[in-house]
Amino acid sequence: MCGIVGYLGEKDAVPILIKGLKRLEYRGYDSAGIAVMRNGEMNVVKKRGKVKTLEASVNDLGLSGSMGIAHTRWATHGEPSDNNAHPHTDQTGNISLIHNGIIENYSVLKQMLKKRGVTFTSETDSEVIVQLISMLYNRDGLSFVKAVQAALQEVVGAYGIVVMCKEEPGVLVAARLGSPLVLGVGDGEYFIASDASPIVEYTRNVLYLGEGEMVIINKDGYTIKNILKDTVVSKEITQIDLTIEEIEKGEFPHFMLKEIFEQEHTITDTLRGRIQIEEGSAHLGGIQDFLTRIENASRFYITACGTSWHAGLIGKYLLEEYANIPVHVEYASEFRYRRAVIDSRTVVIAISQSGETADTLAAIRKAKDVGALTMGICNVVGSSIARETDCGVYTHAGPEIGVASTKAFTAQLAVLTMFALMLGRMRKLSINDGREVAKSLTQISQSVSQILNTSEEIEKIAKEYLDVDNFLYLGRGLNFPVALEGALKLKEISYIHAEGYPAAEMKHGPIALIDEKMPIVVLVPHDRTYEKVLSNIEEVRSRNGRILLVTDKITDDLKSLSDHIIKVTNPHRITFPLLAVIPLQLLAYHLAVLRGCDVDQPRNLAKSVTVE
Ligand code: G6P
Repeated sequence: MCGIVGYLGEKDAVPILIKGLKRLEYRGYDSAGIAVMRNGEMNVVKKRGKVKTLEASVNDLGLSGSMGIAHTRWATHGEPSDNNAHPHTDQTGNISLIHNGIIENYSVLKQMLKKRGVTFTSETDSEVIVQLISMLYNRDGLSFVKAVQAALQEVVGAYGIVVMCKEEPGVLVAARLGSPLVLGVGDGEYFIASDASPIVEYTRNVLYLGEGEMVIINKDGYTIKNILKDTVVSKEITQIDLTIEEIEKGEFPHFMLKEIFEQEHTITDTLRGRIQIEEGSAHLGGIQDFLTRIENASRFYITACGTSWHAGLIGKYLLEEYANIPVHVEYASEFRYRRAVIDSRTVVIAISQSGETADTLAAIRKAKDVGALTMGICNVVGSSIARETDCGVYTHAGPEIGVASTKAFTAQLAVLTMFALMLGRMRKLSINDGREVAKSLTQISQSVSQILNTSEEIEKIAKEYLDVDNFLYLGRGLNFPVALEGALKLKEISYIHAEGYPAAEMKHGPIALIDEKMPIVVLVPHDRTYEKVLSNIEEVRSRNGRILLVTDKITDDLKSLSDHIIKVTNPHRITFPLLAVIPLQLLAYHLAVLRGCDVDQPRNLAKSVTVE
């Protein structure tokens, strides 16, 4: 979603800000803008479309300056347009602001400001903040910093903002509530951004602004304050654990392909140091202090959005089977607004790649309020969900830049499998069964590399399905959520309509869609569901559907029933979902590329959804 970058220092801010915006492109956006200060002048350029369109304008104008702010916008209030793009400037032309998040009371504030003669130039909620700051600064005579602070006390909603004022040319003010901001502390220069990716090239020293905090930056240093209490907050500088290679594509044409291929080692990174082969168990350091409460839980809720929710569904199968604890899996956006049965023996697990998804964060806060133990499974270290949960497990998949989640999903499955194994062993799983699972996890990366070798073969298959409008994905048991995830991947990046279904449920609806044009992807492991799934495939076959199978063993039966088969070498029944999703990621990727889609930044999607 929206991206923020700001710079104050000796260098020319423009190339730093433009490069920063490019680093933030992965978050998803539809317009971009920049404001820079030079010799007491503030120049603002805003463009609908890609950062490169903005860059061309900025170059034509020969823009430069030693301080500036820049933004990529993902439209919420008002269509994507030059006017609605950030930065927004107050009506005196003195103050510029960039904003991530949503101001919920913007309409009331807008009416109030209009009554006082303020003219608005955009349809956004964000412009309200800068006009409010302006009123407090120009009309009420507050200092620039105090005006920002006072304005933030009036707004309701979520924000990460950076503001600058022409009459205070050496000062940048940033503040956060519900929308992350990172301050980069360089040698005589400062960076502020919505995540560390625009900063890592210049410094590793960073500070994460906390909820309700603001930072006032000038060339001599910075001061962090609590917005409401007006007290100074002292914070330790931390080192970001991120390398440039991790956030660049390298030899790959797209981040998504790079990340699919990285799964050969990311799954191992997730498992590293955590599997206990001898004990047939796993050790998850981040939840160690809460094990008694977890072991004695009456029920688990798993709450998440998108791909992470699919991981949760698989987690339910694993946890109920191994640990014998009831598990409910809910979209965070639903969970947060309903009366779930939660007590002090309930454990609420939030799964989130980014750790910033607004609904998931709100779900966790609600769960904490009613006394549940909260546990996070997050990829981004230090993210809001990771910090706000009582305990948690990091997935350690490294930064995921492609909007469509791939390596984060398999890492989440690896964590959930270890969690189920550990809890299973604490409750009823035998050591021998535990050892089999633990051993199989250590064999995963070999299987992943075999699947990745089939990428070209999958590309060939994709060529045969280029002209279709609909896909159906089927699976049973543990593999039903994999069908959902395969369908989600395809629609996200290729814009082909796709649905995932439990295989047997097909005959209660989707079967009506099947004809000789319709491809059906079926997950068919040789487990206890095999015979049943085989019957479902027969049902598709007899209606002339085109069949693509993902299986762990190619048999004559399966060959005769299908148009294409992809084999996944699978060490254990429960690792099949983790492996079988990879060919589905590749299929979606190749289809999207062949259809000329923007794989890494699909239309309308955002990587990190920080609004409701
Ligand atoms: C967005 C992304 C998805 C992701 C979902 C949840 O929709 O495009 O890829 O699965 O958010 O994100 P999270 O960071 O909470 O896992």
